[in-house]
Amino acid sequence: MTRTQVVIVGAGPSGLLLSQLLDREGIATIVLERQAQRYVEARIRAGLLEQGTVDLLIEAGVGERLQRECLVHDGFEMAFEGRVHRIDLKGLAGKQVTIYGQTEIQKDLGDARLAAGSDLRYEASNVAIHDFGGARPRVTFIHQGRPQELECDFVAGCDGYHGVCRASVPADAVRTYERVYPFGWLGIIANVRPVAHELVYANHERGFALCSMRSPTRSRYYVQVGLEEKVEDWSDERFWEELKRRIPEDVAARLVTGPSLEKSIAPLRSFVVEPMQYGRLFLVGDAAHIVPPTGAKGLNLAASDVSTLYRILLRVYREGRTDLLARYSPICLRRVWKAERFSWWMTGLLHRFPDTDAFGRRIQQSEQDYFTSTPAGLTTIAENYVGLPYEPIE
Ligand code: APR
Ligand code: PHB
Repeated sequence: MTRTQVVIVGAGPSGLLLSQLLDREGIATIVLERQAQRYVEARIRAGLLEQGTVDLLIEAGVGERLQRECLVHDGFEMAFEGRVHRIDLKGLAGKQVTIYGQTEIQKDLGDARLAAGSDLRYEASNVAIHDFGGARPRVTFIHQGRPQELECDFVAGCDGYHGVCRASVPADAVRTYERVYPFGWLGIIANVRPVAHELVYANHERGFALCSMRSPTRSRYYVQVGLEEKVEDWSDERFWEELKRRIPEDVAARLVTGPSLEKSIAPLRSFVVEPMQYGRLFLVGDAAHIVPPTGAKGLNLAASDVSTLYRILLRVYREGRTDLLARYSPICLRRVWKAERFSWWMTGLLHRFPDTDAFGRRIQQSEQDYFTSTPAGLTTIAENYVGLPYEPIE
């Protein structure tokens, strides 16, 4: 049996970033990933980073290409009722946001882990975690056709929403909170110049739309669709036509279209598990919580969980502060719930709800009007969007 200090299940951004940070401080990790490296690196996901996420990536030694290639935005736009409102993030909240694709972060982290000679096992199947309620957790799995077993001090469940770690916790030890929305986002990515310098979120009677980007030559666009919609029914032409109808006219007039590189539909969901710790198992990122993408918080919450667990484990190993282990879940959950609230609220502000009555629609309109016309409303949006502060670990 092999011994290590921390077994990390999942090599998404959470797992790789945690491994990278711990490893640089001499804490040994082994990462187990079900998929092949190529598959993990090809997944197209988020793209908007809070300053705290950028700072953590720099601290982890993977900020070089990010800082060279990223786009920094001082604000974003919201369009309702034919009018466009700019949210001046820098002016209102004193911070900017950074555009850099999760796909690129995944590659940078993968390269850094490889360069450090880390123990990262892709295509590990049948991962099972054992005895994590006690002092000596074990992890079993099959790799390259051989059954294997690891013994460790801690298990980090970085295995996403469908992973094995959260599902291994006794059902009566956790509580889950969930909301499913009656729509999804149809998203495309295309090698065309972005339609605007900053992001444009639009609420139109045909539904929500978002104009985002990955670089000066690569755009990311989304439209709200019903849950019954199938991606095969959406030709590129149909997508571009629908997007143009939902965004302000002058923006639509500037839109450059082109063939999509990827097209997919994602349902929208809010989900939280409490607590995020069970014994020596810690749930991190999407394994513990999901947000609808409207507030761009998914990857950023994963980063704040990683930061919290990393700083606690550092003090456990360096100073013997095992008392801090119990702080992980409450510290994370305070920030998680605020981001859940903001993501849920932005979703309500910007989408068309098929089941809303005339009263609900007027409330939505007055919310849009209030929050974009008062300093308090604008500041509330801005301070949440740029990311709330990380709680110190005392
Ligand atoms: N065994 C091993 N690996 C597993 C298992 C398992 N049983 N189940 C899932 N995994 C792997 C997945 O293949 C995936 O690579 O765990 C990884 C989880 O990665 P993500 O789903 O990307 O989750 P996370 O790393 O927490 O990333 C944060 O927040 O909003 C999102 O876009 C954002 O994907 C990002 C996420
Ligand atoms: C994205 O670029 O993919 C993106 C940006 C902002 C969001 C959601 C997604 O709110």
